[in-house]
Amino acid sequence: MTGLKALSPKKQIRSKGKIRFSVFCGTSVDGFLARPDDTLDFLNAGEGVPHGFPEFLNSVDVVVIGRRTFEVVRDLGHFGLYGKKPVAVLSSRPLDLSSIKARLEQMSGTPHEIAAQLEKRGFRHAYVDGGITIQRFLLAGLVHRITVTRVPVLIGQGIPLFGRLPHDIYLRHLSTRSYKGGLVQSEYGVDGPSGTQSRKKPQAFLPEKRKTKK
Ligand SMILES: NC(=O)c1ccc[n+]([C@@H]2O[C@H](COP(=O)([O-])OP(=O)(O)OC[C@H]3O[C@@H](n4cnc5c(N)ncnc54)[C@H](OP(=O)(O)O)[C@@H]3O)[C@@H](O)[C@H]2O)c1
Repeated sequence: MTGLKALSPKKQIRSKGKIRFSVFCGTSVDGFLARPDDTLDFLNAGEGVPHGFPEFLNSVDVVVIGRRTFEVVRDLGHFGLYGKKPVAVLSSRPLDLSSIKARLEQMSGTPHEIAAQLEKRGFRHAYVDGGITIQRFLLAGLVHRITVTRVPVLIGQGIPLFGRLPHDIYLRHLSTRSYKGGLVQSEYGVDGPSGTQSRKKPQAFLPEKRKTKK
């Protein structure tokens, strides 16, 4: 993969919306991607039942991961996970990728700058991974679809999938499936550019209005 270059954060480049970013990850029921020390053993509580990852991976043409996820995958020697897809590793610091036999390049910049670079190169569907990285792309309004597979375990502390937000982001529930072993997978669409634009106030949890006697 060539041409994925670090961009100056001063340039106000915006994606033209030609590329979609999708999330596909596994969490504990209490919402953690990994333990505080980056270990992932708790994901085995789902008994490793197939739940659509190869099919999802086939649907993307590039993978975008955060530096911390990259380090974990590298240390585990698991780059085969991404098949032959090109992988962009995001980091603001120099990374030595030379020893890794995978289609890897480093990128940095705002999510829109990264999206613009990728779409200019013809990529149309990206798999975005890593908690902080996902949160930044979500806030930029670039995430189109979120598939979370909850593993039946609570771990109490760890690295969260989602974080603090300056505003709500509304999701559209698309489907939920359960698998043998207790995995529960839910798929959501993210509404509009920020997920908050054209949305009416949700009524589901508001108290019903009392009928007044005439
Ligand atoms: N359970 C699962 O399905 C699953 C999936 C993915 C990851 N994980 C695990 O979850 C943990 C993820 O950790 P995390 O949320 O702290 O990190 P992360 O998103 O993997 O990495 C965060 C780092 O990515 C870099 N980064 C992100 N956006 C950037 C941008 N726009 N420009 C430049 N650099 C950017 C920054 O690196 P610098 O600090 O170098 O600038 C940032 O500190 C890991 O343990 C990983 O193994 C689990």
